[in-house]
Amino acid sequence: MSSALKGKRILLGITGSIAAYKAAMLARLFIKAGAEVQVLMTAAAADFIAPLTLSTLSKRPVYSEVSSESGWHNHVELGLWADAMVIAPATANTLAKMAHGMCDNILTACYLSARCPVFFAPAMDLDMWRHPATQANVRQLEQFGHRLIPPASGELASGLHGEGRMAEPESILEFLEKSLQAANQDLSGINLLITAGPTFEAIDPVRFIGNRSSGKMGVAIANAAAARGADVTLILGPSQERPDSRVRLIRVESALEMHAEALKRWPDSQAAILSAAVADYRPAEAATEKIKKSQDSLSIQLVKNPDIAADLGKQKVNGQMLVGFALETHDAEAQAKQKLERKNFDFIVLNTLTDPGAGFHHDTNKITIFFRDNKRLDFQLKSKQEVAADILDALASILARG
Ligand code: CTP
Repeated sequence: MSSALKGKRILLGITGSIAAYKAAMLARLFIKAGAEVQVLMTAAAADFIAPLTLSTLSKRPVYSEVSSESGWHNHVELGLWADAMVIAPATANTLAKMAHGMCDNILTACYLSARCPVFFAPAMDLDMWRHPATQANVRQLEQFGHRLIPPASGELASGLHGEGRMAEPESILEFLEKSLQAANQDLSGINLLITAGPTFEAIDPVRFIGNRSSGKMGVAIANAAAARGADVTLILGPSQERPDSRVRLIRVESALEMHAEALKRWPDSQAAILSAAVADYRPAEAATEKIKKSQDSLSIQLVKNPDIAADLGKQKVNGQMLVGFALETHDAEAQAKQKLERKNFDFIVLNTLTDPGAGFHHDTNKITIFFRDNKRLDFQLKSKQEVAADILDALASILARG
């Protein structure tokens, strides 16, 4: 059976622990499994194992703060290049830096730039591992969504016996294979268009009309769909969120820009999920200079923005699927069903602002999905990642039925 690592690009970060010697074996195992490996070493790691060993095995130059000036310019690129980052061995010092966003070498710089899944295999002495500071850092990293590859118990370099040994290279390989395999590929080959975030409608060069959408839900859907194999284009309004590197990102500001980008890309898409909170109106004219406070009152005339969903719905052809969102404060079900019809959606995802924890700026959401055949699915309050998976399950099941 072919390995889940086949064709994957792995950043292997090695830090200064005696277990660094095992990293050579790990690099070898990754490569044998079909992965491309880029090694990053801290200066301390180079005291334990020669960079030449790793560059020979990986057939790539090793980046370390001592050997590569160019490495400093590469960290963003490398962070985006990788499908997975594995820090093995990870010392207490590096774990602390990662947990606190400190960045004083090429490894931590790449880590901060990485958008891929991050795995870390700690290696340290028993008491360092047990220390509440280390344990708190590990918990923090897990909260960031990184995966701990737990240390094993056994004889430690200090002569002590207990927990702290880096997991064996074979176990690290197995851990990675399981994690990467787990990713369901049921959307593979699907061109998926997603709109997300708010839109800003300019009043003058410094002011705009906007809304409270964070873009979190749409970015979560984009990331989850890309992980399931879809070719995702995300048209994102002004949002602090950033998607995985696998997602093709198109940044826009206004509804008109979002409309133009969406219409251009719709004919090449099998499906679109429209999660953006598009401003319904924009100022009829944006002033070219900052409006001065010279009058006691000010009226701004607004004109209607195009309805992206309705326009995509009109152009939808057989085999294309259109998914919309509705955020309602009253008469929610009836409003959502009306939008399903009016915009020619295949299904609509309703979330109500009245549910605690749901809607803008929360990390959780509570949805109901309405389908064209009157079927409905009600879900509990869940994390936006889980909600994204539920929405994609609904999409995948309809696509599978053809
Ligand atoms: N939508 C869109 N373009 C717009 C307005 C809405 O693509 N100009 C999409 C949203 O992304 C969402 C769906 O249409 O998927 C419903 O959005 P909503 O704002 O609830 O609908 P409106 O048509 O604006 O209806 P209203 O404001 O009257 O409730």
